[in-house]
Formats: sequence, C-alpha cells, structure tokens
Amino acid sequence: MHLLLINGPNLNLLGQREPSIYGSSTLQAIEVDLQRKAKEEGVQLDCFQSNFEGALVDRIHKAIGEVDAILINAGAYTHTSVALRDALLGAGIPYVELHLSNTSAREQFRHNSFLSDRAVGVISGFGVMSYHLALQGILNYLRKPG
Ligand code: DQA
Repeated sequence: MHLLLINGPNLNLLGQREPSIYGSSTLQAIEVDLQRKAKEEGVQLDCFQSNFEGALVDRIHKAIGEVDAILINAGAYTHTSVALRDALLGAGIPYVELHLSNTSAREQFRHNSFLSDRAVGVISGFGVMSYHLALQGILNYLRKPG
C-alpha cells in the first residue's frame, strides 16, 4: 500500500508558528514519526509540503496511479481553493482532510472547507494526533473488506 501526506501553506513553520494553536512539533518530526508508523504497518508513506497552490495541484496529479490514498492538511487553502478540490476529485484518489486545530471552533472563515464533503473523513482538533488518527482511519478504510 502506498500513501501520500500533503501539507499546504505555512505548515513548514510548525514548531514556531502560533504554538498555542498548532503545538511545538516541527513538520519534519511529524513526518518522520508518521513514516515510521506507516512502515510498521507495511505501508509506504511519501510526504510533500508546499506553500504554492499550483505545486500542490501538480503533486496531486503526479499521485494518480501511484498512491492508494492521500492524507491532506491543506492549511488555509482548505477554505479557499476550488483548484485543490478539483485536483483531488479529478485524481479520483480517496483522501482524508486533517487539521491540527478544530477549525469549526475558530474564526467563521475557517468553518468552510472546499474539501470535506468529498473526503473519506475529516479529522480536526487533535494536534499532532490528527495526523496519526488520519493514518489509522485511512488504513482501516482501505483494508475493510468489500
Ligand atoms: C490548519 C487550519 C487552517 O485554518 C489554517 O489556515 C492552517 C492550519 C490546521 O492544521 O489546524 O494553516 O489547517
């Protein structure tokens, strides 16, 4: 099984960015930890981060025929990007939307997501654990019979 973790804009700043909201782990630490966990499950997990919408779209296109599912924290593009939504739907790859913070408990503009209605599931508000829950959730989804 082959999975792809995508992180969008500003998530490269994790560890120093608003730690009271996003915690103190760096993105690299999260990725290393998640890759270790995936490996234990016999799964390959690739990681990609970009601050550029088009680069995220390109990476999703590259994933066609390559990965079984995508875990995506699209950051602020969650709330703005029709292009990212179209890329995910166009690729036809099942995906989980995830967020460190509980976006529904924050500013009104974070309540809308262009991704959530077509996601396998959405995980939001558990900090770094959101990444682990997303991995667990998608593995359960992909492995379930039928
Ligand atoms: C975020 C929530 C978004 O609203 C925000 O723009 C981010 C991070 C999260 O992980 O909580 O950049 O996706």
